[in-house]
Amino acid sequence: MKRKFSFFFCLLVTLLSAQQLVLAQQKYTSFTPGKIWKDDKGVHINAHGGGIVEYKGTYYWFGEHKVEGGKGNTAQVGVHCYSSKDLYNWKDEGISLAVSDDLKSDIAKGCILERPKVVYNKKTKKFVMWFHLELLGKSYEAARAGVAVADKPTGPYTFIKSYRPNAGKMPFYAEGTPDAEKVNCEKPANKSDGFFCRDLPGGQMARDMTVFVDDDGKAYHVFSSEENFTLHLAELSPDYLSHTGKFIRIYVGQQTEAPALFKKNGIYYMVGSGCTGWAPNPARWFKATSIWGPWTFMGNPCEGPGANITYGGQSTHVLPAPGKKGEFIFMADKWEPKNAIDGRYLWLPIKFEGEKIKINWQDEWDLNTFDK
Ligand code: DGJ
Repeated sequence: MKRKFSFFFCLLVTLLSAQQLVLAQQKYTSFTPGKIWKDDKGVHINAHGGGIVEYKGTYYWFGEHKVEGGKGNTAQVGVHCYSSKDLYNWKDEGISLAVSDDLKSDIAKGCILERPKVVYNKKTKKFVMWFHLELLGKSYEAARAGVAVADKPTGPYTFIKSYRPNAGKMPFYAEGTPDAEKVNCEKPANKSDGFFCRDLPGGQMARDMTVFVDDDGKAYHVFSSEENFTLHLAELSPDYLSHTGKFIRIYVGQQTEAPALFKKNGIYYMVGSGCTGWAPNPARWFKATSIWGPWTFMGNPCEGPGANITYGGQSTHVLPAPGKKGEFIFMADKWEPKNAIDGRYLWLPIKFEGEKIKINWQDEWDLNTFDK
């Protein structure tokens, strides 16, 4: 009886491990938006609010590591990194920026650390990570930008500082901007101007964000500011580690979140969302011929059923499609606030009609779609 039991036990273990192996080795050849997406270890990818940087033919995906249960949306672990050569199959590279056990640290375990974006600085040869940071126990009050740096794409990243950008600085205005459109802190014209003026001495609030590197190597930090009422696009210093003080305000008072920027044929495009907490809302896009604007609001790029809620998602990044010049992938998060670790990824191809962009839902697609 005992021998029979051990035989069946061993058989069960062997079968289970074989199943694990099959799961772990599952190869993807397409994107299936909204479905579980397993890494090389067979675990659902844990990189929410993420962004991707390409370096020497490998793609590195950085995002918020979420945990199960009520604390899921707070930073209990840090920023997770994955690598891939084909964008379908991702290798777990571990935690690239870990939160600190020191409760006095700006990035203390349990803080809110969102939307990490990594860019490579060709001059300093450093990888620079910016993120939205909220201090431990202070809910969304701090509204700071945090920055960390590493020598290798996967890290480990060293936290440098966090702060509210552009203290004491007034916005930059393109030539010809009418005075009526300029913020006047003697007499703020609206709610958002009021928040801007309130925060002028200590620096502007910085929440949902992205970082964009232009063809000339200059980098820009784009973030929801002024209590999320207005977006700021701010120039970073040549080492990408601080703000120069030059910035513009975009779509004043209209509550744009989740910005993602890209450039095609000299035109700048930005996709974002409205501001409704973890619940989805319609995406919005903007166009400009200069990074300094004016940025024109262009409406909702999504079409078809679900377009009014971005198919349940919220933008996080736009990635140039590998080997497909002038083609781009829209990346969004489908948040699961009750069990954040189960959040899903919606990656969809962007279609161009002249200088207009369109996004359509696809149950399954691959990079060949750009050849059609
Ligand atoms: C929407 C933002 O886009 C997320 O990054 C996060 O800050 C949630 N709001 C919090 O409600």
